[in-house]
Amino acid sequence: MNNFEFKNPTKIIFGKDNYARLSTEIPKGSKILLLFGGGSIKKNGIYEKVMKNLSGYEVEEFGGIPPNPEYSVLIQALKVIKEKNITYLLAVGGGSVIDGTKFLSSAALYEGNNPWEILTNKRPTLKGMPFGTVLTLPATGSEMNSGAVITRAEYKEKFPMGGAGLFPQFSILDPEVVYSIPERQLANGLADSFTHVLEQYMTYPVDAILQDRFAESIMLSIIEIAPRLMKNSKDYKTAANFMWNCTMALNGLIQKGVPNDWAIHVMGHELTALYGIDHARTLAILTESHYCYNIESKKEKLVQYAERIWGIKNGDDNSKAKTAIQKTTEFFHSIGIKTKLSEYIENYEGTGEEIEKRFEERGLSGIGEHGKLTPKDAKKIVTMAY
Ligand code: NZQ
Ligand code: ZN
Repeated sequence: MNNFEFKNPTKIIFGKDNYARLSTEIPKGSKILLLFGGGSIKKNGIYEKVMKNLSGYEVEEFGGIPPNPEYSVLIQALKVIKEKNITYLLAVGGGSVIDGTKFLSSAALYEGNNPWEILTNKRPTLKGMPFGTVLTLPATGSEMNSGAVITRAEYKEKFPMGGAGLFPQFSILDPEVVYSIPERQLANGLADSFTHVLEQYMTYPVDAILQDRFAESIMLSIIEIAPRLMKNSKDYKTAANFMWNCTMALNGLIQKGVPNDWAIHVMGHELTALYGIDHARTLAILTESHYCYNIESKKEKLVQYAERIWGIKNGDDNSKAKTAIQKTTEFFHSIGIKTKLSEYIENYEGTGEEIEKRFEERGLSGIGEHGKLTPKDAKKIVTMAY
């Protein structure tokens, strides 16, 4: 097992009807900016539940943070933070609203003139404006981690950021929010969380027995609940399991002491930046080609995954690995997610070259758990996913 440090300070408040906890968690006297997305919270009643419990505070609102939180929109929110002397941020939404809030938490205390630097200088944020979240969409794990991904449409860029100062102080996880989530986003949540586990697991063995079992238990749970969730998302037990699995898939725990890959995400963000494809779907597009391309360096873990997750006992290692990759693709299909780039866009030719060029321009030398995948490798992987 590799050396590691682990600290996750986010308080999780899980279960039905916990909105009253807002007033015990947010310090009295705070001047709150409530941040939300395109309005789903006004249709499903979450907005009322939140506002009812903020009556003792001064509250400003900022709505309209779009999926793949957009820099130019967030800059408008930053103005509100400064003009209204906001002291506390409250994100009510999915990964996009929470990520946008993390950017604002960092930008609110940023001392430079140009907050875009937070995305380009790659320096971790060690202190941000305090914030909490009310999660409305299980998927990203953003409610219990310190990372965010921000889009700037004018540059067609989507960059990650983060740092120890960007953990939410608390997150309210009410499984009942799942009832109003459309099918497309349910499938996205399943695919995103499943891939999060894969990115932290499908590398090479380091005798981290417990981490492997943690990761496998999350994958098995997601596979078990997926058909139930897609059939009936209004079942509390299913919704609760869906929600907690998504959080556990990316709250830092399973990645400690083991190698991490994240190449699927790095390439996937480019597909979203270029074509606006949903984050989770970009991952489903790239998973098969990434694992086929790297089958030799990932063979041992692919075989373990084949045996323990998909129960594949027959055949040699190569055939087990290949069958497991195929099973993963079938899992995406089973929840209605297409896995070829050409099924999402017409003009897909040249995408591999474009991504190779972008990575070269950025000086991105090597991705993946060995840091050895070059821009040329990325081109080949993306091209295999057409
Ligand atoms: O904007 P509103 O109207 O709220 O509608 C949203 C949005 O259209 C809707 N929605 C959310 N909760 C709902 C609901 N609709 C009905 N009922 C509810 N309860 O769902 C749509 C998608 O929301 P979004 O927040 O964009 O989805 P998701 O949570 O999948 O977040 C995706 C973003 O997170 C980033 C992705 O790159 C992408 O930008 N990620 C963040 C990560 C992190 N911080 O750790 C890791 C991930 O790998 C990922 O990169
Ligand atoms: Zn993801």
